[in-house]
Amino acid sequence: MDSVFTLDNLTVRFATKEGAVAAVSDLSFALGRGECLGIVGESGSGKSQTFLASMGLLAPNGHATGRALFQGQDLLKLDREALNKIRGNRMAMIFQDSGTSLTPHMKVGNQLMEVLTTHKGLSAEAAKKRILEVMEAIRIPEIDKRLNQYPHEFSGGMRQRVMIAMALLCEPDLLIADEPTTALDVTVQAQILQLFKALKQHTRSAIVLITHDLGVVAGLCDRVIVMYGGRVVEEGPVADIFANPKHPYTQGLLKCMPRLDQDLDAELEAIPGQPPNLQKLPPGCAFAERCTHALPRCAAERPGLRDLGPGRRAACHLLEAA
Ligand SMILES: Nc1ncnc2c1ncn2[C@@H]1O[C@H](COP(=O)(O)OP(=O)(O)OP(=O)(O)O)[C@@H](O)[C@H]1O
Ligand code: SF4
Ligand SMILES: [Mg+2]
Repeated sequence: MDSVFTLDNLTVRFATKEGAVAAVSDLSFALGRGECLGIVGESGSGKSQTFLASMGLLAPNGHATGRALFQGQDLLKLDREALNKIRGNRMAMIFQDSGTSLTPHMKVGNQLMEVLTTHKGLSAEAAKKRILEVMEAIRIPEIDKRLNQYPHEFSGGMRQRVMIAMALLCEPDLLIADEPTTALDVTVQAQILQLFKALKQHTRSAIVLITHDLGVVAGLCDRVIVMYGGRVVEEGPVADIFANPKHPYTQGLLKCMPRLDQDLDAELEAIPGQPPNLQKLPPGCAFAERCTHALPRCAAERPGLRDLGPGRRAACHLLEAA
């Protein structure tokens, strides 16, 4: 596979007064052109930090090791200037908290223009035309008025849409979308997911979609990685994972996936128990305390990822016994 983005044993640690936080441990995967990878897992499982680390955006007390290869270049080795050149151009990220990533003192229209004139070399006229197209596509009303406003004049949902517009304008080779539609209503969510689909098909952008919503994964992603306690516990083509989940945690997630006739907020947290403490991870399987299938060895011995066929991996002792 011609890989756009490859993580090779990415490990992220945070230094705190209470000791080191093992946010991400030995994460590896490869993502090809035109592919959409879903990343799912409970709150605190390391999804966001994986990609913030890859883009050089960790908090000052964080440190990443391993490799994050973007088109063959290790992002962890680049300085700020080189990273800035790649970010927002060949590689774009829609953040979970969009409020912080727009420039506060610059009109939204000018921020969007800058993406196209500075990074893409478009004329002002061509840039304006393209901005209007994208704003219309993501259903931003009163576009001309909106373009003349500052970010603080936008609601959270509207700011999120501006961030999405900005990412789509770049037509990046890699788009990382971290819970991009959570703040938006269901109709807008659906429209935005359609735009991601179009981006993937037309520009062959690789997309990473971080989400709690397995329904979104099913609609857009080709492959999915399930994270638990900062590690990959299962990976595979979406259809396989949904039809035949191998890891007890994935099985639990799928069991509590909301159905159409259910309250939309009743989702992942339905697995009994708490996620592990990343400052005190157990020596064995991090899921052992909550696992109804745990074997005696699970508490002491951490299961490694096993290959289970093309693109299919899972880490569970049950699979070794099978
Ligand atoms: N600056 C920091 N110092 C210490 N620990 C941190 C820091 N930033 C993040 N963490 C910890 O890293 C872990 C992984 O966080 P991450 O943001 O990747 O979770 P997530 O899977 O994206 O969760 P969510 O679904 O809530 O967004 C969490 O336990 C978090 O508390
Ligand atoms: S390794 Fe053991 S505790 Fe972990 S998921 Fe598998 S059976 Fe459960
Ligand atoms: Mg997150």
